[in-house]
Amino acid sequence: MTNSTSVTFGYDDGDVDTNRSGGTSLNDMVERRYSRRDALRGGVSAAAFAVFGGAVLAACSDKDIAADSAPTVTAGSSGTTSSGRVVTLTGIAADDGGVASQSFTQVSGPAVTLTNAASGAATFVAPSVSASTPLVFRYAAVDSKGQTSSVETTVTVTPAALGFTAVAKNRLDKVSVPEGYSVSVLYRLGDPIAAGTAAYKNDGSDTDFANRAGDHGDALYWFGLAASGNAREDGSSTRGLLVMNHENINQPYLHVAGATTVAGARPEAEALKEMECHGLSIVEVSKGGGAWTYNQAGALNRRITPLTPTVFNGPVRGTAHLRTAFSPTGVAGRGTINNCANGYTPWGTDLTCEENWAGYFRRPTAADNPRRTPKEVTALARYAVTSGSGNFGWATVAPADPASTIYRRWDVQATGASALADFRNEHNQFGWVVEIDPYDKAAAPRKRTALGRMNHEGCWPSNFVVGRKPAFYMGDDAVNEYLYKFVSATAWSAADAGSADRLAIGDKYLDSGTLYVAKFNADGTGQWLPLVYGTGPLTAGAAPYAFADQADVLTHARLAGDALGATRMDRPEWTAVNPVTGEVYLTLTNNSTRTPSSTDAANPRAYIDPPSSSVSNRNGHIIRLRETGDSSEATGFAWDIYLFGAGSDLDATNINLSGLDATNDLSSPDGLWFGRPSNASGLVTPVLWIQTDDSAYTDVTNCMMLAAMPGTVNDGGVKTITNTPAGGGGISQATRIGKAPGTQLRRFLVGPLEAEITGVDSTPDGKTLFVNIQHPGENGNTGNITSNWPANQTAPAPGVRPRSATVVITKNDGGVVAL
Ligand code: FEO
Ligand code: CA
Ligand code: CA
Repeated sequence: MTNSTSVTFGYDDGDVDTNRSGGTSLNDMVERRYSRRDALRGGVSAAAFAVFGGAVLAACSDKDIAADSAPTVTAGSSGTTSSGRVVTLTGIAADDGGVASQSFTQVSGPAVTLTNAASGAATFVAPSVSASTPLVFRYAAVDSKGQTSSVETTVTVTPAALGFTAVAKNRLDKVSVPEGYSVSVLYRLGDPIAAGTAAYKNDGSDTDFANRAGDHGDALYWFGLAASGNAREDGSSTRGLLVMNHENINQPYLHVAGATTVAGARPEAEALKEMECHGLSIVEVSKGGGAWTYNQAGALNRRITPLTPTVFNGPVRGTAHLRTAFSPTGVAGRGTINNCANGYTPWGTDLTCEENWAGYFRRPTAADNPRRTPKEVTALARYAVTSGSGNFGWATVAPADPASTIYRRWDVQATGASALADFRNEHNQFGWVVEIDPYDKAAAPRKRTALGRMNHEGCWPSNFVVGRKPAFYMGDDAVNEYLYKFVSATAWSAADAGSADRLAIGDKYLDSGTLYVAKFNADGTGQWLPLVYGTGPLTAGAAPYAFADQADVLTHARLAGDALGATRMDRPEWTAVNPVTGEVYLTLTNNSTRTPSSTDAANPRAYIDPPSSSVSNRNGHIIRLRETGDSSEATGFAWDIYLFGAGSDLDATNINLSGLDATNDLSSPDGLWFGRPSNASGLVTPVLWIQTDDSAYTDVTNCMMLAAMPGTVNDGGVKTITNTPAGGGGISQATRIGKAPGTQLRRFLVGPLEAEITGVDSTPDGKTLFVNIQHPGENGNTGNITSNWPANQTAPAPGVRPRSATVVITKNDGGVVAL
């Protein structure tokens, strides 16, 4: 063996091995060394000595140290990898008297954490870099005489890149992830989250949902926990709280034989169960022994349901809009419902958003409109508080306790002598952004009325810059509704991030400020129009709705947006903010009412997507904007359309405008989230995750999640397309489209049958991804179960009822997910 001056080095990014040492393998050398040691310990035979020869004797002779050789280390080549990937440094040492120790240390380059550094196989996660960057490591071996040999090797790290092969479209009843990744089920509808609550039977007989996971898990966010399990530690990637919305229910599966109605009334127990399946759960999860589990007895586990006491803050607090028989002063509230997307704050709280609340209330218009003022009728119609029964008929319950109003509140007809004698204003208690402190079980959720009332999809913050007022971006999800932003009245002070009184910090930033609505101009500019009473048309002289004051403007933000001339969008869903550029992305999921004659530059498509014959925007798009001066406080912005959803088979000239192919075609984008800036997936070129809630492309594929590395606003150009009305002919529409994504957009996951993919977050290290699979089998019932997921994720489970569930996804080599 030659006395090498370099070390064998290899790297493993999951698909390539550049270990070029050839000749003797590590295993061979280790085996030889240990065999020799064992032979010496065990009193060896003449044959064994003959094998090892004189070198063994020389190495063990105290009289002859001078003849001892320093360890030899074998040669290899340096390697290249990219940010977020796992690198294995392989060192090989041999010695005539035995190697006493070996180690890797870093010599230069961005500091990394070496795992198993005191070995010949150390690993690290390649750091985030913005340009090709060398990292130098030293491998040293010490022999039993204390003689040391060392060598250096270089790992060159390039910027992060997507590092997985796209998952094929499919209609399997399971979650599919890329090769080299693992998926496991973590937390399901009905799972008990309190000590003593029984395991879920999943046969419709279960009760006590105030202590179980709710249904329809939606947006989620990871809040790190300290080792104590009851204190905040933002940086933890192994123990944390998942704060999760439970938007809605798969009603049939919650009961033994489906939902029932007896003599026109819902049974109280059924209605209570359905209510408690809504809201949020806060549940502890942790990683141990390489596997993730939720902790049924977590100290901070908590359910928030439509029955949980809440309080109102901001300009609408205490006003007549919020007064009811339960809340005579308009300050207190009960619960939250239809919580869809979310947001977070840097002071450690969750922002949950009330979306499709209007349909839960019973208000037969023919009976109730005559009892209302014309102004009230206008507002109730604009917010669609017009259901004759309420979604699940909860108002029909005749409770065992006749004094209880927890069912009666869902009837918002003006039947009493005054607003304090009935629940005519109960609907005004919903449609808000609600702030929750996940680290304090006793803290009542605070409804932040300064952020306006609408079908709040989400509330994602701008990047926080010290000395600048932060913004929160919010979609109003209904056809032709608007994009809003709230700019706090208070400039950000970093010290507030660590306050122990988190909701007081929320009061500071979220109770006063300016709500704006977006107007997108055809030339690629846009304006944020302020919803400020007394400004522009927002006065008592406005028609059709005369605003009384700022509380009236905020409670009826949609009517204010109408008056201001905001742009009618193709259903504004989630917003996401690029943690590097600050650019704001907004999913516009689809619009069944868009026609070739009602398009505009920001909502430019109306077309036929077979097998449907309707002309509309069936597949949706993702618009993005860049604030003027890159400031959250800006009142102007530039915009373009990042991505148009479409099947890859659709017309590339007028429909499949982003050039999607089989690896990345999608329909109806909804969930949207950038990787966290605490790891390589959220730095330099952050990964954008896109989730679908689709019913247009489901003849080909189940809903999906994709990962992208998008460019920037205006990286493409102007394009004019032709939309074809149902009666033929063509209508031109100019739009602004970003650079085609190509391979920078790939399908990462496909969900089970009849499920929406929604809600995504990672641990701060980016190595674990949490994703919600919502409403599998939603079109079935107890007599026709149309999905068995998640029970069938690994083996068939015929007959088992489906459950919404959270899955955990990890890369098998421990690297950052997607990279
Ligand atoms: Fe609950 Fe607009 O999605
Ligand atoms: Ca030696
Ligand atoms: Ca959604």
